[in-house]
Amino acid sequence: MRRANLLFAASLLAANVFGWAISSDASIGTDSVALSATGVSTSGCPPFKKGNFNIDAYQLYPENMDWDAKLCQVYIGILFNASFGVYDPYNDKLEVISFPGNTLVKEFHVGGVAWDKYSGLATVIIGQGNAFETVGANISGDNIIKKYDPRSKTFLWSLNITEVAKGEYGGFNDITHDAAGNTYFCGTYPSSILKVDRKGTAVVPWYLPETVDHTVRGYSGIASHGDTIITLDSRLGKLFRFDTTAAKGMPTPLPHVPDAAITGGDAIRLPLKFEGKVLLIAENRRGVSVLRSQDATWRSAEYLGLIPMDPNLPTGALTTSVTQIGEKIYAVTDWFGDQIVPGTVAGNKTSFPMIDITAKIDALLLG
Ligand SMILES: *[C@@H]1O[C@H](CO)[C@@H](O)[C@H](O)[C@H]1NC(C)=O
Ligand SMILES: *[C@@H]1O[C@H](CO)[C@@H](O)[C@H](O)[C@H]1NC(C)=O
Ligand SMILES: *[C@@H]1O[C@H](CO)[C@@H](O)[C@H](O)[C@H]1NC(C)=O
Ligand SMILES: *[C@@H]1O[C@H](CO)[C@@H](O)[C@H](O)[C@H]1NC(C)=O
Repeated sequence: MRRANLLFAASLLAANVFGWAISSDASIGTDSVALSATGVSTSGCPPFKKGNFNIDAYQLYPENMDWDAKLCQVYIGILFNASFGVYDPYNDKLEVISFPGNTLVKEFHVGGVAWDKYSGLATVIIGQGNAFETVGANISGDNIIKKYDPRSKTFLWSLNITEVAKGEYGGFNDITHDAAGNTYFCGTYPSSILKVDRKGTAVVPWYLPETVDHTVRGYSGIASHGDTIITLDSRLGKLFRFDTTAAKGMPTPLPHVPDAAITGGDAIRLPLKFEGKVLLIAENRRGVSVLRSQDATWRSAEYLGLIPMDPNLPTGALTTSVTQIGEKIYAVTDWFGDQIVPGTVAGNKTSFPMIDITAKIDALLLG
């Protein structure tokens, strides 16, 4: 078995981890100009030629992944260790970035990670495992959002979500961005969308339900195309649409036809290669649902079908996310139920499968 080359970069980054430093406009602005509002060409990266493969890294337990179509690398939310992975799929090389005070502290999990096609920056959320493990009963503890510049390998800003949420809502786990440089992330207990401005000045609640009851499960995934944000309410199995040009988020139901069941939904993605027309929904125990909006406006969605999970995966496998790599699409698999290895914060797995679902998506799109 080949082991991914692990490089721990904690010392290199420690100086920035607790910083609330605000990046200069220039460092963000340069790339916003370079990448037009229509997004990036995803063909700038070398073709990725592997089919199914494994990332061999002890206790990787990936909750979420996202593709950086400019630097041609994958960001990984390393769930239980609560660290952030930067993975070079071409050379099978994993760099693990630690957050002193959070990484390897069992209360903390890293769920959400996302790449911003407009700025070239990445966002990571360090949250509370308990919110999910108690299905919203206990959402106490700190939640932090950080902005990472993958070129300088520094964190530009870090904000305390809990200061804003005040323990009333939690379970923050999926992220998206708009062309103006804003970051949006959703919370699951109950549904929420919070917004951070381009400079990382403040976290502001952008959408909250009328009744804020953290025992009600809601949004598990968020994605966007142009001015349209899509969320998945994982309890209802329904999608909602929002307009980022509005001062406050206002959900509009986004019907899917046929009205197939979407159950155990987790992260959602609009992979860059489909130019906003194809939405992929990770469903923990089922696989990946494929939906389409031919004109990418998402006033309604065609439900094209489910790509079921490989039944031969080790017991307890859960589809948690989906990521593009090169021009391929992979399902991300995690295991929440593995027994914790004493003295550590995660189970004993050393190998994590990346399932190539590209051909199955293409078949549904043609079908
Ligand atoms: C997770 O943490 C353990 C130490 O508890 C370490 O041995 C392992 O390499 C870490 N895994 C990753 C992917 O960082
Ligand atoms: C809630 O979870 C936190 C850890 O995230 C723990 O310290 C605390 O004791 C829990 N509270 C209850 C009432 O179980
Ligand atoms: C985050 O905010 C909460 C609530 O105000 C506070 O208790 C906690 O100490 C803060 N954490 C950090 C790391 O600043
Ligand atoms: C991992 O742990 C499970 C039980 O939790 C055990 O059955 C399995 O043999 C362990 N695997 C390794 C490689 O130690």
